[in-house]
Amino acid sequence: MDIRVDHGAIQDSGADTLIVNLFQGVGEPTGATAAVDEALGGAIGDLIAQGDFRGKTGEVAVLYPRGELAAKRVLLVGLGERERFGTEAVRRAAAAAAARARELSASHLATIVHGGGAGGLSPASAAQATVEGSLLALYRYRASKQVTEEPNEIASLTVVEFDQERLAEVESGARAAEAIAAGVMLARDLVNMPPNVATPGKLAEVATELARDHDLRLFVGDRDWAAEQKMGTFLAVAKGAEEPPAFIVLEHNPERSENGTVVLVGKGITFDTGGISLKPSAKMEEMKCDMAGAAAVLGAMKAIARLGLPHHVVAIAPCTENMPDGRSYHPADVITASNGKTVEIISTDAEGRLVLADALVYAGRYAPKVVIDLATLTGSCIVALGQGMAAGLFSNDDALRDALCAAGETTRERVWPLPLWEEYTEEIESRVADLKNSGGRQGGVATSAVFLQAFTDYPWAHLDIAGMALSDKANSYTPAGGTGYGVRLLAEWLRGL
Ligand code: BES
Ligand code: MN
Ligand code: ZN
Repeated sequence: MDIRVDHGAIQDSGADTLIVNLFQGVGEPTGATAAVDEALGGAIGDLIAQGDFRGKTGEVAVLYPRGELAAKRVLLVGLGERERFGTEAVRRAAAAAAARARELSASHLATIVHGGGAGGLSPASAAQATVEGSLLALYRYRASKQVTEEPNEIASLTVVEFDQERLAEVESGARAAEAIAAGVMLARDLVNMPPNVATPGKLAEVATELARDHDLRLFVGDRDWAAEQKMGTFLAVAKGAEEPPAFIVLEHNPERSENGTVVLVGKGITFDTGGISLKPSAKMEEMKCDMAGAAAVLGAMKAIARLGLPHHVVAIAPCTENMPDGRSYHPADVITASNGKTVEIISTDAEGRLVLADALVYAGRYAPKVVIDLATLTGSCIVALGQGMAAGLFSNDDALRDALCAAGETTRERVWPLPLWEEYTEEIESRVADLKNSGGRQGGVATSAVFLQAFTDYPWAHLDIAGMALSDKANSYTPAGGTGYGVRLLAEWLRGL
């Protein structure tokens, strides 16, 4: 979909569908909505007066101009209560309008900037949220179905701004939204792909395309390379996989070090059967989402490159399947990570922390200012925080933790702090190795985090995204399936760095 920004009055737009808005409880429209109401001979005023439109967030009414406007239809969308208004309400309103427009087979949309006027948001963040909500809501995964009819696609969205002085900011907000949404959609695509398609090789191919399109530096390490690097924990997981593993490293601004280096690490288990500690077959298909961390860091790199952020950012994605096989690693194996630490395997299903261990050690080579890892690491995190509520956040740096929490609120990709208490490490003490890869049943989200901590010696945050990667129901601007969680969070945090 083409995103345009135009200076002018929305009622003069040549688009087939106009989108205006209203706060809940407003008796009389103002601004652009009032101008459209006038062109409609007071039809919006009538809707309000009859109590047929309340202005709840995402509520949509369709009005027909009958020749008063060039447009075929006007969508009036609710912004909800003024007291609870923010960028989330804007994204939800824009999403509802865009989705309805698509149902109505619209082609060209024109929208005002939701919340830029009476809402009190800055023109840039209001425009960003308006475009982000629209683009993300219209996302569709190109499923492997034999379709007989092509579904309607919206060709363009024009953001119309009346005030010349706000135009530049609206333009920059809209462009930022395009960059970020492109990253989110890439991450969603990768999670939505079946695991026989989204193999480690496929993720490396996608990284190759990103490097080519956005001038990033790429390195992909194979099994032999990982062996030379003595990546014993990564390789142990890959042992049972016929599919070749890939250790992906993508760099934005590799020559730039004046702002310090940020490393993003994403768990890339392209399918997690549990290995010899085999998972039950019920819902095992959901384990195609076990590379959502890798998808998020690749998506974030796309957004970061398109935004032209000034930092040196490195994405690392250790990718492999976790399979049961004659060559698989076993419970009771003792393996050695690339920093020399030895690990006793208790469960081959606690594989995420193993591939991350070697990746976190590798991250240390950059003398990073900050490392953030994202991983669908534990079911225990979902037990603690709920499905789709928030990622579990662990950090050894208070300022980093606070900044990520703030970015989580702004983007509504929420994170919630959990403790890295030293006592948790007792749960992963081994009699035969430096560590074991699984603690007791209780506190599994935290014992996995202190396991990872043993492989870090820099400011670090770990995000357990197990409950956030996949959604079984559609929600406002997030269709069912891969959510792309983490891309908007990382982009927001990096823009504020
Ligand atoms: N990939 C899973 C965690 C997961 C669960 C992701 C649900 C998404 C949704 C991870 O590798 C795993 O199997 N974790 C185990 C750890 C245990 C064996 C210590 C778990 O959480 O049960
Ligand atoms: Mn597992
Ligand atoms: Zn896993």
